[in-house]
Amino acid sequence: MKSVKQANGAIDWKKKVVLVTGGTGSFGKKFVEIMLRKHTPKKLIVFSRDELKQFEMQQHFKSESLRYFIGDVRDRDRLERALAGVDIVIHTAALKQVPTAEYNPIEAIRTNVLGAENIINASIDRGVEKVIALSTDKAANPINLYGASKLCADKLFIAANAYAAGKTSLSVVRYGNVVGSRGSVIPFFQKMRKAGEIPITDPRMTRFLITLEQGVEFVIKCLGLMQGGELFIPKIPSVKIMDLKEAIAPGCPHKVVGIRPGEKLHEVLLPMEESRHSLEFDDMYIVEPDFEWWKKSYHKGGRKIPEDFEYNSKNNAQWLSIAEIQELAELDGQPAEKSSRSSPSSQTPRKRVRVVS
Ligand SMILES: NC(=O)c1ccc[n+]([C@@H]2O[C@H](COP(=O)([O-])OP(=O)(O)OC[C@H]3O[C@@H](n4cnc5c(N)ncnc54)[C@H](OP(=O)(O)O)[C@@H]3O)[C@@H](O)[C@H]2O)c1
Repeated sequence: MKSVKQANGAIDWKKKVVLVTGGTGSFGKKFVEIMLRKHTPKKLIVFSRDELKQFEMQQHFKSESLRYFIGDVRDRDRLERALAGVDIVIHTAALKQVPTAEYNPIEAIRTNVLGAENIINASIDRGVEKVIALSTDKAANPINLYGASKLCADKLFIAANAYAAGKTSLSVVRYGNVVGSRGSVIPFFQKMRKAGEIPITDPRMTRFLITLEQGVEFVIKCLGLMQGGELFIPKIPSVKIMDLKEAIAPGCPHKVVGIRPGEKLHEVLLPMEESRHSLEFDDMYIVEPDFEWWKKSYHKGGRKIPEDFEYNSKNNAQWLSIAEIQELAELDGQPAEKSSRSSPSSQTPRKRVRVVS
C-alpha cells in the first residue's frame, strides 16, 4: 500500500486567496494559526456571524493577510460578496451539537444543508477553484439529525462536481471526535472532574479521536490531492470511553447515565456499503464518487477494499492507551489531571503518538 501522490503539484499558497467559513470556531482558529505559520497565503478571510469572536481573534492574530467578514452561510448574497476573488474555500461553519439539532431540526437543516447549497452555488458562480467541506463520522449511517444534515451536505458537495463544469472542484473530509474542540467530551470531562463525578453514557462506548492540528494538516493535504468529488477519511485511532475518562480524570468516580437520544455505541467513518467504491492508502481512505463523470485513474497506488469491510471505532486496528490520550490532550491544550491515583496503564512510558498528515 502507498501514500496518495499529489496529482496537481503543491499549492502555491502565496498566490492564493483563501476563505474559511466558521473561521472563529475550533477548527477555523487552528487552521488560521497553521496557515499563517507555515503557508502565508496572499489573503486569508475568516467568515462567520458573531462579531465578538472575530474581535477576539483580531486581538490574537496579527497578520497583514488576515481579513474578517461578518456573514451567515444562510445568506447567499452575502456569500457572493465574500467570495469575490477567492481561490480556495474551506467550509467548516455548522451547527454541530447533537441535542441542539434534535430539538431544532429545521435550524440545523438551514445552516448545514441550505448553507452548503449556498456555498456551492456562490463558489461556482464566483469561479472558486477548490472547495473542501468538513464532515463528521456522525454523517456515516446517521441516526441523528446533525449527522443526517451533514450527510445531505456531503452529497450536495460531491454531486455539485457534475454541474461545476470543471471550473470548481468540490470535495469532503470526514473524521471523528476532535480532542479539544468546543463542546467536545474532553472539556466536558475536565469540567465534571471538578464536580467529583464523571457521567458515562455506556462503558462499552468507543470513539475515533483526532487532534485539531492533525485535522487541519489533513485538510491541507487533501486540498493538494483533490480532483473534486472525493470523500477523504484519515486513518485515526480509537479510544474506549473508560480510558478517556481515566486519562482526563484519573481515579475520579463515574456514574453510568445511559446512552442519550441520537447517540451510537460505536461510530462509523466508512460504511460497508461505501467500501465498494473506496480505495485504501497508508494514511487514509478515499471514497470515490459513484458517478459516471468520475475518472477511475485519478488516485494511483490505492488498494481495493473488501466489500464487507467497515471502518468503525470498534473494529479499528489502532487504539490509544491512557498515556497516549493524555499526550494528545496536552498537545491540544487540554492538559489532563495529574494524579497519584492514576491507573497502572496510565503510567506506562509515553510513546510518540502517530500523527496523520
Ligand atoms: N468538533 C468535532 O469534534 C468535529 C468532528 C468532526 C467534524 N466536525 C466538523 O468540523 C466543522 C468545524 O467544527 P468546529 O468544532 O470548529 O465547530 P465550532 O467550534 O462550533 O465552530 C463553528 C463555527 O461556525 C460558525 N458558524 C455557525 N453557524 C454559522 C452560520 N450560519 N454562518 C456562518 N458561520 C457560522 C461559528 O461562528 P459564529 O457562531 O460566530 O457564526 C464558528 O466559527 C463542523 O462542520 C463540524 O461538523 C467537528
